Amino acid sequence: MIFDLKVIFTFSNEIFLIKNELQSSISNFNETLLEKDKSVKIDIKDINKNLLSIDIISEGIFRPHNALLQMKNFLSKELGKKHHLGIREITIESYTIDFDLEKKPIKKINIPFADVKINEKQATIILKNVDEEFLRRNYIDRMISLVKEKVENQYYEGKEEFWKLIWKSNEKKHTWSNDPTEEMTKLGWLKQGPTKGKWFYRPQAATILKTMEIIAIEEVLKPLGFEEIIESNIVPFNVWLKTGHLEGMPGEIYYVTEPATRDVEKWERFIDLTKITKDVPLDELQKNVSLPTAGICYAQCPLIYWSFKGKTISEESLPVLLYDKTAVSGRYESGGRHGIERVDEFHRIEPVYIGTKEQLFTLREKMIERYKHVFNDIFDLEWRMAWVTPWYMQQAGKISDNSTQETGTIDFEAYMPYRGDRAKSEWLEFQNLSILGDKYIKAFNIKAQKTELWSGCSGIGLERWTTAFLAQKGINPDKWPEGFRKYLKNLPKGLKFL
Ligand code: SER
Ligand code: ZN
Repeated sequence: MIFDLKVIFTFSNEIFLIKNELQSSISNFNETLLEKDKSVKIDIKDINKNLLSIDIISEGIFRPHNALLQMKNFLSKELGKKHHLGIREITIESYTIDFDLEKKPIKKINIPFADVKINEKQATIILKNVDEEFLRRNYIDRMISLVKEKVENQYYEGKEEFWKLIWKSNEKKHTWSNDPTEEMTKLGWLKQGPTKGKWFYRPQAATILKTMEIIAIEEVLKPLGFEEIIESNIVPFNVWLKTGHLEGMPGEIYYVTEPATRDVEKWERFIDLTKITKDVPLDELQKNVSLPTAGICYAQCPLIYWSFKGKTISEESLPVLLYDKTAVSGRYESGGRHGIERVDEFHRIEPVYIGTKEQLFTLREKMIERYKHVFNDIFDLEWRMAWVTPWYMQQAGKISDNSTQETGTIDFEAYMPYRGDRAKSEWLEFQNLSILGDKYIKAFNIKAQKTELWSGCSGIGLERWTTAFLAQKGINPDKWPEGFRKYLKNLPKGLKFL
């Protein structure tokens, strides 16, 4: 890497007369930097009136922008004391950074704040019009990483997703090959919601979803010692900045705006217009709402981690075993919506676990055992488990990492007879289970007294459990497996419409 920073210092007065002194000060300063990084070189380009032009070059261990900020302090002290000279302004003429890429980019790369030039496996970013504040922040290094990440991602685009089978059940007899959403809609158990990808569950469908919830709690979570918490449905941006969701999924978030004011006078025109036009005066509304600073829950785990932010957890509370079943998840799906299995709003239980690596490995085995019991003994499903790209990579917009046996995500997938042949059709991911290492533990600065903590979570989607089950077992309770009938054998009568 080669960094080349061209800068002009504007002093409060002429510096021409102290030219020699200035030169030797700068070369002394350069000496001190050489102790940190042998490649840092400060060249004086010009000294004229009250202007000093310099060029700071380094091979990058000690960044020129850091050298510049230190140099400013150094010169201010030196010249301030003796000559009552101050530094009025620092103008960055240009900042050029050359670095090597692992692979040659496939197509052009753009990033904010800089021009990016590529020559084979050599990248150059050229920054212009940046100020001191910009250099002070950690932007430069992040810009370099962003270029590298974009090149890396070009190689993953269009590649098949990582998927590695862990286990699969026997083939099972399915009782029908219909699409459960369509059938339930025909019977009036379900109604497509008032907006895209939302549903209204009438008593029959609601009972099935709620039974799924009861089974998850009674058969999986309670036996393993999980305890329930209730979290907010609204997640502020600062939490998603830490989890990476704002980088990964900004186009899938349902943003939440707050009123800019409660002042009735400010709302008067809005109210009047509504009364007269019986329509929503959107232009007027816009004046009274703030830009969003939060969104509707996307996954429940981020707020659970947030609740532990900066805390030291007592060893006796480990492993922490919690779940939320209150927050409803919102995800803006564009093309992929289908029935109640791919929706913009869904109901999910999310267990989150924090503990030592060993505790989590043991827990994962036990959770898989309990899940197997549900899907085999209660639902009698045809399903399988596979390692997939960890959800935290996907949700942070990254694609290059794969799951390992230690950390990563396991997807639980069910055969959906209505989609066709079991070997050729896409199976439904109806649940996942992950161990995430110390990623969120670090992000939220969570500690234990002695041990290193890891964490993980598992998403139990009630709509997904429901469609997986119904797609194989049908919607006639008489034909449901005995294990499930222990929980639900009679559906509510529901409503008749004329
Ligand atoms: N947080 C995980 C996910 O979003 C598990 O719920 O899939
Ligand atoms: Zn999660």
